[in-house]
Amino acid sequence: MDRYGVFGNPIGHSKSPQIHRLFAEQTGQALSYEALLAPLDDFEGFARDFFRQGRGANVTVPFKEQAYRLADQLSERARRAGAVNTLKQLDDGSLLGDNTDGAGLVADLLDNRVAIEGRSILLLGAGGAVRGVLEPLLAQRPARLVIANRTRARAEQLAEAFAALGEVSASGFDELRAPFELIINGTSASLGGELPAIANEVIRPGHSVCYDMMYGKAATPFNRWAAGQGAAKTLDGLGMLVGQAAEAFLLWRGVRPDSAPVLAELRRQLM
Ligand code: ATR
Repeated sequence: MDRYGVFGNPIGHSKSPQIHRLFAEQTGQALSYEALLAPLDDFEGFARDFFRQGRGANVTVPFKEQAYRLADQLSERARRAGAVNTLKQLDDGSLLGDNTDGAGLVADLLDNRVAIEGRSILLLGAGGAVRGVLEPLLAQRPARLVIANRTRARAEQLAEAFAALGEVSASGFDELRAPFELIINGTSASLGGELPAIANEVIRPGHSVCYDMMYGKAATPFNRWAAGQGAAKTLDGLGMLVGQAAEAFLLWRGVRPDSAPVLAELRRQLM
């Protein structure tokens, strides 16, 4: 049976094995998929050992940049992201590195009937999570995309790096005054129960859609704030998680699984 897995450290709470088992069942594909605790001091050795038999792997914190360096070939979106979340062993034994995070986000937005094309987007944060989604978001041709970060200089670097792909600019938090149609939180602030310090005016009540790349049993602090400001819709990152997995499954198996029933099952379990 073809072997797959996810490399991370820690990895205990990964939902990926369940997601891929459900995809395999749904599409009638025979494969195994396990959560694998990779050592912090020898990711490369661990990954090479896995690929003696393994066919593909997902990569999560803190190894996405190491996976980028390990890959023999990169997809365009992985090259732009500077990080790899999906590895696939090709027939000649070489490793292809891809990044499906942004495609997962875009798919989840479109599944929720949130338009991207022609819209104004505010993307909060300038770390790996934001870098990973910029190319797929810009490929949907938003009217403009503003990257705002607590540390403005990091937003500027990202905006410059992606300038060729669309209308992208940088901002600090305190300059934000006007409303955006779509606001995506890619900071890790929710992890500490915090909110990015942005003005309420970025939300136009009844109109703006807010998306937190984080998720949890309860609404994230960002989504609670957004709902309190009258956001038309709030979405969390569970759909992005399932979406990135669906894109990885497609790369490995050539079949696109249906995310919706799997997302519904995960949501049920979170409750
Ligand atoms: P990741 O790879 O998950 O994106 P990262 O590279 O450490 O992680 O980036 C974390 C992001 O969350 C950064 O944009 C960070 O802002 P700074 O660049 O100013 O550090 C942002 N962040 C973390 N905690 C935050 C908070 N409490 N408020 C606002 N932004 C926060």
